[in-house]
Amino acid sequence: MTVLSDQVHLHPDQLGAYWMPFTANRHFKAAPRLLASAEGMYYKTDEGKTILDGFAGLWCCNAGHNRKPIVEAIQKQAATLDYCPPFQFAHPLAFELANRIIDIAPKNMKHVFFCNSGSEAVDSALKIAIAWQRIRGDGARTRLIGRERGYHGVGFGGIAVGGMVANRKMFGTLMAGVDHLSHTHNLEHNAYSQGLPEWGAHLADELEKLVALHDASTIAAVIVEPMAGSTGVLPPPKGYLKRLREICSANDILLIFDEVITGFGRLGTAFAAERFGVTPDILTFAKGVTSGTVPMGGVLVRQGIYDAFMGGADHVIELFHGYTYTGHPIAAAAGVATMDLYRDENLFENVRKLEKPWADAAFSLKGHPLVEDIRTIGLVAGIDIKPVEGKPGLRAYKAMENAFHDIGMMIRITADTIALSPPLMINQAQIKEIFSDKMPKILDSVAKL
Ligand SMILES: Cc1ncc(COP(=O)(O)O)c(C=O)c1O
Repeated sequence: MTVLSDQVHLHPDQLGAYWMPFTANRHFKAAPRLLASAEGMYYKTDEGKTILDGFAGLWCCNAGHNRKPIVEAIQKQAATLDYCPPFQFAHPLAFELANRIIDIAPKNMKHVFFCNSGSEAVDSALKIAIAWQRIRGDGARTRLIGRERGYHGVGFGGIAVGGMVANRKMFGTLMAGVDHLSHTHNLEHNAYSQGLPEWGAHLADELEKLVALHDASTIAAVIVEPMAGSTGVLPPPKGYLKRLREICSANDILLIFDEVITGFGRLGTAFAAERFGVTPDILTFAKGVTSGTVPMGGVLVRQGIYDAFMGGADHVIELFHGYTYTGHPIAAAAGVATMDLYRDENLFENVRKLEKPWADAAFSLKGHPLVEDIRTIGLVAGIDIKPVEGKPGLRAYKAMENAFHDIGMMIRITADTIALSPPLMINQAQIKEIFSDKMPKILDSVAKL
């Protein structure tokens, strides 16, 4: 019997009912990885073991776990206003949070549309882009351009513009009228890059080819992650995003940055757009907006996009889109408390301060016989390890299991890449714990497979 907490006990035969997402269910249920509590940088398992959180929950608990100001804001809100319908009604905290996000967003971003996840944020952004083109009289612009190895969540829009084959191949024809740029990952040119790789800006010119192929008059928007996270940490080559921006502007194509991972400090600035000096027309966020505590996502748009929708009779709904839980009071309360914490503890600045020590510590793994590449930027590291012949993904999977059960750390894996992205409150001692103590043990534990 597994003890979940003082009150909850779980029999192995109770594990079947929950169909777990993006999980090898049978393997998990044979040796569950169950978490019972968390504080700061650490989780506790159901058996009371302490686990260092190597990827901030799932790239989301940027302020660290169970932070008192956020917990208290959630408790207070739940006891004050549990729910408020977001269609035709609202509550003050949704406006307050929207203003707080605008305060730290790229200068041209003036309005926030709330939803409940990154996937919803992406689908909302794509719908807004297509609708905007139609409203301004360009209704033929419906085509969307994504990128290979992009991850934009799991909605039909997100998987259509996304570029991860396993997420796409089972689900039919997806959306019509989508094309993709090439991804920018190239070990021949960019192996072991700290920060932005030197090689690859020219890959943005592929957008010109797609414009020539489809004609700009059919293309609504391009969507990319400024740094691709879920497909193994792929920072953009130097100059790449600027070039995309130029081509989009020259052809009246909207540029959407999916900042679900990079938003709220992961790269040392509130949003990656600021760090890279490239401003999109639309920007999606989720995860870090509430530090992972309550589901929330959103879309930021520039003034002209919002304004275009504000024509017509003023009693008529302008955008036929929204969710029952848009701007939920408890999520909004968590969001405001999270913004306070980011500001009061200078957490984005902490990332800038620690970027170099983090990168140097990660690069200390270079030379380990299993390590094939290391990429770092902000508080992110991607570490490619040698696949077991004929069994792609197995070595990283075993590494994740051993890390949890035997070494006391949680790592995120995609195929044979280990991605690390800890809470932004991390300190030098914990960086050392990750790269000098735990990671070598994790790698050594899967040397013989
Ligand atoms: C860039 C990006 N977009 C969208 C999503 C989807 O977010 P969610 O899982 O909240 O739907 C993710 C999740 O990791 C992401 O990394």
